Amino acid sequence: MSSDSTMSSAVDPTASPLVLKGEGIVLRDWLDADLPHMPGLFDAPDIAANTDIPSPFDADAFLVRIRRRRVQGIVDLAVTRDGGQPLGLVALHMASGVLGYAIGPQHRGRGMASRSLRLITRFCHEELGFTRLRLSIVQGNLPSERVAASAGYVRSDDDVVERMNGLGQLKLLETWHWLAPVTSG
Ligand SMILES: CC(C)(COP(=O)(O)OP(=O)(O)OC[C@H]1O[C@@H](n2cnc3c(N)ncnc32)[C@H](O)[C@@H]1OP(=O)(O)O)[C@@H](O)C(=O)NCCC(=O)NCCS
Repeated sequence: MSSDSTMSSAVDPTASPLVLKGEGIVLRDWLDADLPHMPGLFDAPDIAANTDIPSPFDADAFLVRIRRRRVQGIVDLAVTRDGGQPLGLVALHMASGVLGYAIGPQHRGRGMASRSLRLITRFCHEELGFTRLRLSIVQGNLPSERVAASAGYVRSDDDVVERMNGLGQLKLLETWHWLAPVTSG
């Protein structure tokens, strides 16, 4: 594990099932029953432009990818209000402490992304021992910057990196980070 993760933990987030509750939402594993909802959530131009979720979007392939990534230490959870209908996703890359998020166009503007980010940030710190977490945000993605800020992240001094988005375009990404509060004693 990288230096971003400073403690060992009894919790293994790559072991299903994982359920996180708080902030008035529930983050849970993706289910086969979610497949019909996925195109409506993720087949959106701004999702392909600002994440690595591929376009054109293929729900079956996406669920396979989610399950394959889990084994590799990348945890993708469905954002829900109560454990039911999925509204979007949050992702945690265990080795690097990088988080990501996307909310379906019909479910935006209701605090789902910022609540999800706050909840998973707290889980990563309190249960997994991360003291620094990061977001990679495409330059100029103001909605994502607002989400980041609302969950206590700030733009870091890390170099801008170039990554391929879901449309196969190279984009410049800025790093935002969250640092655990320093405790005395
Ligand atoms: C970015 C995204 C996740 C925001 O989801 P959301 O659930 O609508 O966000 P929230 O409702 O939690 O909003 C959080 C903050 O962002 C602001 N915000 C959200 N969308 C905005 C927009 N289009 N323009 C300006 N501000 C916006 C909200 O006003 C809120 O600000 P506040 O905390 O000052 O009140 C969503 O637009 C999305 O999925 N975009 C495409 C994928 C993407 O960019 N993912 C991020 C990759 S790093």
